[in-house]
Amino acid sequence: MSIWSKISRDKIPLHVAIIMDGNGRWAKKRGEHRLFGHTKGVDSIRNVLKVATEIGVKHLTLYAFSTENWNRPKEEIDGLMNLLVQAISNEIEEMDKNEVKLSMIGDEMRLPEKCRQSLNEAIDRTKENTKINLILALNYSARWEILHAAKQMAIMAVNDKNKVQQFTNEDFDNLLTTKDVPHPELLIRTSGEKRISNFLLWQLAYSEFYFTDVLWPDFGADNFIKAIASYQSRERRFGMVSEQINTTNE
Ligand code: FPP
Repeated sequence: MSIWSKISRDKIPLHVAIIMDGNGRWAKKRGEHRLFGHTKGVDSIRNVLKVATEIGVKHLTLYAFSTENWNRPKEEIDGLMNLLVQAISNEIEEMDKNEVKLSMIGDEMRLPEKCRQSLNEAIDRTKENTKINLILALNYSARWEILHAAKQMAIMAVNDKNKVQQFTNEDFDNLLTTKDVPHPELLIRTSGEKRISNFLLWQLAYSEFYFTDVLWPDFGADNFIKAIASYQSRERRFGMVSEQINTTNE
């Protein structure tokens, strides 16, 4: 059955952000090591990227490694970093062929040298691609990002206090790592957890949230389409009342 029988072509979110959660529990249920779950998680990324591209999503942001994830056992951190390098090396050819532009948000300086190198090579190789922007959040934390922007504003205020006093939401947007990307219309979190976990706190102000119990390694194209269908069934009011929205849409 065509995916277009389940969703409408009219209201495709431009930007979908995903908190990929549940890899560890998925592996544990099978008596496997947590890294096995992360490895299967890469398959889910490939499947979701494919269907997101197909329906016309333009930006897909994946929370791949938070600043808090450094607190995990060293073996798991090393495994995740190796997996990142391996996944880029395995997928880059296909991604480039499918016109996927790879980018990242987060503080890359703490990532191991080999990760930075393979990421930067892949980012450079795909920079002219326009079909979809795959944004990996790595060593990312929204508080870090907002604090960084606030510090930049403080520095600007030393030179030009009036300018900073007149700062708008859009000006602040331009200080964030997501500056060239529209805010996500839809946030998906897998595995039954219902938290934002320090992800895109500023950018998610008006996003629709979709929570599912499905663990990330089990999350596939069908689940993604279900999330899009749920998003399409909602009315986004941005603080207005229903009648105002309906008038605007007429
Ligand atoms: C959360 O599951 C998942 C992560 C912290 C890492 C996500 C990474 C991948 C899907 C694969 C590697 C990424 C790239 C970009 C190649 P969890 O470990 O917190 O699961 P749990 O809550 O069940 O323990």
